[in-house]
Amino acid sequence: MTQLFLPIRPRRNRRSPAIRGMVQETELNAADLIAPFFVIEGENIEEPIVSMPGVSRYSIDLLLEKIGHLCAKGIQAIALFPVLEVSLRNLDGNEAWNEEGLIPRAIEQIKAQFPHLCIISDIALDPYTSHGHDGILNEKGEIANDATIERLCKMALLHAQAGVDFVAPSDMMDGRVKALREALDANGFEHTGILAYSAKYASALYGPFRDAMQVSLQFGDKKTYQMDPANSREALREALLDEKEGADILMVKPALYYLDVIAKLREQTHLPIAAYHVSGEYAMVMAAAKAGYLDASKVFYEALLSIKRAGADLIFTYAIDAVIDQL
Ligand code: PBG
Repeated sequence: MTQLFLPIRPRRNRRSPAIRGMVQETELNAADLIAPFFVIEGENIEEPIVSMPGVSRYSIDLLLEKIGHLCAKGIQAIALFPVLEVSLRNLDGNEAWNEEGLIPRAIEQIKAQFPHLCIISDIALDPYTSHGHDGILNEKGEIANDATIERLCKMALLHAQAGVDFVAPSDMMDGRVKALREALDANGFEHTGILAYSAKYASALYGPFRDAMQVSLQFGDKKTYQMDPANSREALREALLDEKEGADILMVKPALYYLDVIAKLREQTHLPIAAYHVSGEYAMVMAAAKAGYLDASKVFYEALLSIKRAGADLIFTYAIDAVIDQL
């Protein structure tokens, strides 16, 4: 057997599980993962979402049970999305600031039962508008920035009052973080945080989410407010603006196709960075696993680890059930 003189052998650091554990650079923890949930009206209702196997819409009572199971496994944060009856959706989206609405009630009940859980609520109008866009329309049929922000503020105040820990503006309107910070502070909610969807791309990967929300865009697309997938400098500009406006956490979304954006942002901010491993990223892996092409648990673990390695501190993901026992 030939023996080369090779003083540098990187494989020495990979010889055993103990050594690999010692030199491991990135670690995935339950505390890094945020579980998104789709909430519906009613009692004792679970509706499986066809395009997202393993994910369901839950009525609040069943949601509380599901959260109990996750908490027992170490999950410490959740994000809430309402799925509204179509009759409650209109041009103004005013169900979004109904004090008795689904999300304020969900927040109150979850907080009462799980006071230590961090609750994040989505702040955008798309579940509430009849056309499915994230903003209200002006006379020309365009998405009106400033008028939309006024409504976001009303919505965020209700969530804060109900006890939410972070409001998460997800619509990419200009100036919303500043307006939300001012509205929260003016009303005594200086401890309610803002997790800003700072670089949210106009991605084709949200398809299953819109299916879950039973939202279909009635016209056009979201390209006048969500970002162009071709751009990364613009993402930094958006994120640094949100930081200046008072955001507590910055988000990049989707995650895996945008790891370069996460890595670049990591060099430019000292704020925590969140990534959203979105519905399409989840659905693709589940579909391939169903066909027997790959092991979903292993692929998800690798995906989430990669998102952290790129520089994200926390990750919104539907894949928690698939990875939690490996953490
Ligand atoms: C809407 C919103 C979307 C998602 C989170 N909030 C969809 C969209 O912008 O159309 C997508 C999440 C996912 O795909 O998992 N404000």
